[in-house]
Amino acid sequence: MTRTIIPLLLALTATAAPAGRAATDLAGVWLFPRSDEFPGLRMMRLAPAPDGWSGTVTTDWYGDLPMRAVEIGKGEARFLIDNGNPRLPPRQWTARIEGRGLHVSGDIWERHVDARVRRGTAADERRLAFATAPLPAPATLKPDGLAATPPMGWSSWNRFAAAIDDRTVREIADHLVSSGLRDAGYRFVNIDDGWQGTRGPDGAIRPNARFPDMKALTAYVHSKGLKIGIYSSPGPRTCAGFAGSYGHVEQDARTFAAWGFDYLKYDLCSGEGIFRTAAQVKLAYQQMGQALRATGRPIIYSLCQYGRDRVGTWGRDVGGHLWRTTGDIEDKYASMAAIGFDRNGDADNAGPGGWNDPDMLEVGNGGMSEDEYRTHMSLWAIQAAPLMLGNDVRTMSPSTIALLENRDVIAIDQDPLGRQGRRIRKDGEAEIWARPLADGSVAVALFNRGTSPRDIQLRVEDTGLSRIATLFDVWAGAPDNPDRRTWTLSAHGAVLLRLSPR
Ligand code: GLA
Repeated sequence: MTRTIIPLLLALTATAAPAGRAATDLAGVWLFPRSDEFPGLRMMRLAPAPDGWSGTVTTDWYGDLPMRAVEIGKGEARFLIDNGNPRLPPRQWTARIEGRGLHVSGDIWERHVDARVRRGTAADERRLAFATAPLPAPATLKPDGLAATPPMGWSSWNRFAAAIDDRTVREIADHLVSSGLRDAGYRFVNIDDGWQGTRGPDGAIRPNARFPDMKALTAYVHSKGLKIGIYSSPGPRTCAGFAGSYGHVEQDARTFAAWGFDYLKYDLCSGEGIFRTAAQVKLAYQQMGQALRATGRPIIYSLCQYGRDRVGTWGRDVGGHLWRTTGDIEDKYASMAAIGFDRNGDADNAGPGGWNDPDMLEVGNGGMSEDEYRTHMSLWAIQAAPLMLGNDVRTMSPSTIALLENRDVIAIDQDPLGRQGRRIRKDGEAEIWARPLADGSVAVALFNRGTSPRDIQLRVEDTGLSRIATLFDVWAGAPDNPDRRTWTLSAHGAVLLRLSPR
């Protein structure tokens, strides 16, 4: 008798419920209204544990997000939630008893959650459980001989974001050929995020309606003497919210190979909420690396986890041929310069077969001056960075073509020695970088990071050469006096030289 009456009385005075009793009411499974909106909230579980309370918030994007620092009191639970992104502090969430349900509020990434949840059953809990997928045992993949020089090509993201389609990709391929960019070395046509549809009954990923026939598309691109790339994530969702490869890693690798792809960019995205330690992230990348190898098709593997966890020290071991060293570039001088001068990875990790990737090019997208784009190209070339065009190559100005097709710049980027250049002098806003080249010459780049023109002086001893016999001004496209030591650089400008001792 008392057993039924007491909870009833307490329910009637729910808002003023004593902490102890309300706590019991908080325990259980709570169901969010279903929505495909980020982060795909499914359910919340709260339970007393020997040392306090514990719980999870289950989502489509991140699986089970653990509640941390759970505090129970005054008819509510307070706890911290984070999505695994190291740049964001954990956020405070509350779940307050309201009638027969709970009112849940808190923030995750850029979304504010404000939801009414209702009590669920054990059957609901089973139905909404997030199926976890196993990671492989640690292994070290052997070099496969691909990417002897930094990969070059084009990628859809910087210019088209998720609004990419079959027709645009074909037209880009056509124009890579007709503009001469293919013959200058830009070989990959990479579809970034936004191609994915849903999974079929067999679990196989299918493209969305903008990509009616992937096999026909890869065949078309191949027929132009080009290679083609695709994109996925080790997490359940990609950064733009499309289906990721979580739980389907081997199957997706086989699908990509069967479609005829030659390149995969694998972007951590929602995986950051699931793979929470550096070791787990590494295994998640290894899993796809092994899966790509198992297809038997040569596929360039591009790791994109924003340069965390010292990826340059293990990127090769998981089968990677390039690894991002930074968050996303923007078409602004400040963004490009911050990455190009300071987030280009450890030069010791780069070399034939594996490259630091400071992100794709913005040249030709309109947000920087010609001098700034020349600085962008000079920085990427001196650092042996992959050169992935990020502009619409169907509509390029002659100056953009000249920046992108300069054979002497590309020769520095693609130098077979594969040594990444380094900063050899910094004097306020003046910087000098140098890169040793296979033929014994040295590429030297002078940079003016300031907003007014200035002179920069080169000292022979800085170059690592004992004498300079020939001096070639790469952007001028002409030899210069080997005894010249001073250049006047425009604001945000660069001079790129090739110096030879013979
Ligand atoms: C991340 C990557 C970008 C791009 C987008 C796609 O932000 O860093 O390069 O691939 O995802 O959603």
